[in-house]
This record gives sequence, structure tokens and C-alpha cells, in this order.
Amino acid sequence: MRQLIAGNWKMNGRQADSAALVRAVRDMVEAQAPACELVVCPPSTLLAEVAAALAGSAVAVGGQDCHPLANGPHTGDVSAAMLADAGARWVILGHSERRTSYAESNALVREKAKAAIAAGLTPIVCVGESEQQRLSGAAETVVAAQVDGSLPPGFAGPGFAGPGFAGPGFAGVVAYEPIWAIGTGRGASAEDIAAMHRVIRDQLTDTLGAASGAVRVIYGGSVKPDGAAAILALPGVEGALVGGASLVAADFLAIVRASSRG
Ligand code: PGA
Repeated sequence: MRQLIAGNWKMNGRQADSAALVRAVRDMVEAQAPACELVVCPPSTLLAEVAAALAGSAVAVGGQDCHPLANGPHTGDVSAAMLADAGARWVILGHSERRTSYAESNALVREKAKAAIAAGLTPIVCVGESEQQRLSGAAETVVAAQVDGSLPPGFAGPGFAGPGFAGPGFAGVVAYEPIWAIGTGRGASAEDIAAMHRVIRDQLTDTLGAASGAVRVIYGGSVKPDGAAAILALPGVEGALVGGASLVAADFLAIVRASSRG
């Protein structure tokens, strides 16, 4: 399965510095034509201009969250349709920073994923356990429940027929991001990553049926140039969601080059 490397810029970036970063990514992709699929997810303020700067390139653009409704009195929120209008084709949903800071439940993430699909966006739904949950032995149960509760019918493609359905060939993505590994420099071990990706794959089959084979499961949490190749070579790892390292062109591009499977 073609690997996906997605950059999550989080709440970082101004017009001046993002222009240089985007140019470097675009130039590299044109020079090296990496086999993996590529997405960068800037903050909403930069979405339209990053999308314009990457237009015609192999790098797509995504948002970092969306509201479950298309329009309305929701001060400060951005809808999936608005992200699509600004040039996004993807959206990250249910990131642990949002699940934690805004108490986002699995049910809410599921509504957001439905809205994203209806707007023609491909959702990247994040799941992952806290350190305490891992230490208490609950990690696999927590993550399986997040997968089961956060994905709407049609996440794997067929079955969702809402307006603007992204069409045949569409399939959402699940990102496994252990919370304790995000932004800490402490990535999970190869064994733990492979084991959790198996749990997620099994849960996807239970939740979505045979069509779930089209859903990619990617890993995130302190993915850096050192170690990226080993993670991306693990069985069941179909890409990476990269936070901090996606803000440094050389680091992000090194991770793209480490992608083992086209
Ligand atoms: P990190 O972030 O690579 O900085 O750990 C990953 C993420 O939160 O998506």
C-alpha cells in the first residue's frame, strides 16, 4: 500500500517562514518524485496560500480540525466545506491535543469525520493512549475503542453516500499516536508500534468489514529523520504523521526519503 507522509504544523507558521518551507518541500518533490503520498497541514490562516503555492505539485494540503456542521453560529470554528474551499483535500481529526484540550469525544470525532467526507476531504483520524493507560495495561482496549467509536460508516469508502462523497477509491486514514510520544522525543518501540498497528487493523476489520483493507494506518509521535526508516519499514505501518520535524524542511524531506514503500 502506498505510504502517506503527513506534516502537522500545529499552531506554528507565519507567512514569511512558511513560504520558504513550502518552496523547499515542493522543489524536493519535483526533483526526487518520492513514491509516497504527501500532505502538509498548516494552520487555517495559511491554508489558502500554502495550497496555492503547492498547486500542481504532488503535495496536497490538509486542515488540522473541522466543525461537524457546514455553517452557522460557531465562533472560532472552521467547517470542512470551508477547508475544502480554501484548497484542502485532507483534514486531521481527533488529535490528542484536541481530545485533551477540548474534551473531544469519539462521538464528536465521528461526526467531524462524516462532515469531512461529505465535503470531499479525506480524514486522518488520530487515536492513542496516555502514558497512564499504557502503564496500567489498558492501551490496546483504549485504542480499539477509539477506532470503533471515531470512524463513521463509509470511512473505508463504499457505503457513504452523502453530498460531495469523495468517490470510489476514497479511504480515510487512522494515525496511531501514543500521547506520551508526541513532542517528547520518546518514540514508541518497534515492537509496541507493530503490536498496536495489528490491534488497529483487527479493530478496523470488526468496525468497517472487508472494505477496511483500504484504510491506511500510520504512526505518529516524535518521528524524526533518525529512526524514521526503521518505523516506516515495520509491517502494518503505512506512513507517518509528523509534527515538529515537519517544520524543518531538511528533516521533513529526510523522513519522506525514508519512506520504504511506494
Ligand atoms: P511530533 O508530533 O512529531 O512533534 O511528536 C506528532 C503529532 O502530534 O502529530
